Amino acid sequence: MEVTVAKSAGFCFGVTRAVDTVYEQVEKGLKVCTLGPIIHNEQVVNDMEAKGVRVIDSVDDIKDGEDITVIIRSHGVSEEVMNKLQQKNVNIVDATCPFVSKIHKIVRQKSNEGYNIIVVGNEKHPEVEGICGWCDNNAYVIENAEEAENIGVDSDKKICIVSQTTFNYKKFKDIVDILLKKSYDIDIMNTICNATEERQTEAGTIAKQSDAMLVIGGKHSSNTQKLFEICKRECPNTYFIQTLDDLDLKEFQSFRSVGITAGASTPNNIIKEVQSYVRNE
Ligand code: F3S
Repeated sequence: MEVTVAKSAGFCFGVTRAVDTVYEQVEKGLKVCTLGPIIHNEQVVNDMEAKGVRVIDSVDDIKDGEDITVIIRSHGVSEEVMNKLQQKNVNIVDATCPFVSKIHKIVRQKSNEGYNIIVVGNEKHPEVEGICGWCDNNAYVIENAEEAENIGVDSDKKICIVSQTTFNYKKFKDIVDILLKKSYDIDIMNTICNATEERQTEAGTIAKQSDAMLVIGGKHSSNTQKLFEICKRECPNTYFIQTLDDLDLKEFQSFRSVGITAGASTPNNIIKEVQSYVRNE
């Protein structure tokens, strides 16, 4: 059986980097904690916990001068959180995704230049909270067309628009079009990361060329669900599995080619496990 695994399956670059960072620090024998769970995957977080990694919710959970290494996850944090950490005098390892750090720099610089900042994204998302914290929490956060229509930005000031890295490009464009019509003086920074789109495009291409397609990911993961829909459209024999246990290989024996992809929070070892199992059948 020919098995093709999508190169973009599973963790994106930023998450891989953050997860690897945690394990690297643990291997050094350091006492490690992460500010928030490093990723929305229970297995990974449990495995880290078993290796002694503590997940803390807030900087206040750290004692002053505690002998601990604090890892900042790929979403990044606000300037205030960063300052608080520095004051605690702990060892900080910053695993903020470089694409997110870039947004921090943009909003910091533009707000210093007197721009109004608009962040297109979900205001409750930690990445957006972090971004807002690099421009004195003065940014306007909008998520849809209606909010763009009703935005009450001071029209004398210049505007800089950035977006949450995982925001949908089409929705971003629609929102920008509405703001442009309001004839503000606008700098548009498309800071959407294309990891999600790449994963989806590659999944569709592989599904088209395969007799069967396996999509691995959490039952409640919306990005995995989306991958499943894309693949199912291209390949009727598409299966959604969480782990190897969900795989019924009897169904697979008649297929000559099988494609595999996985959602953004599926660890590599699960993908590898499924791959070698299917290959050996
Ligand atoms: Fe991942 Fe960084 Fe993009 S965390 S989704 S590579 S912005």
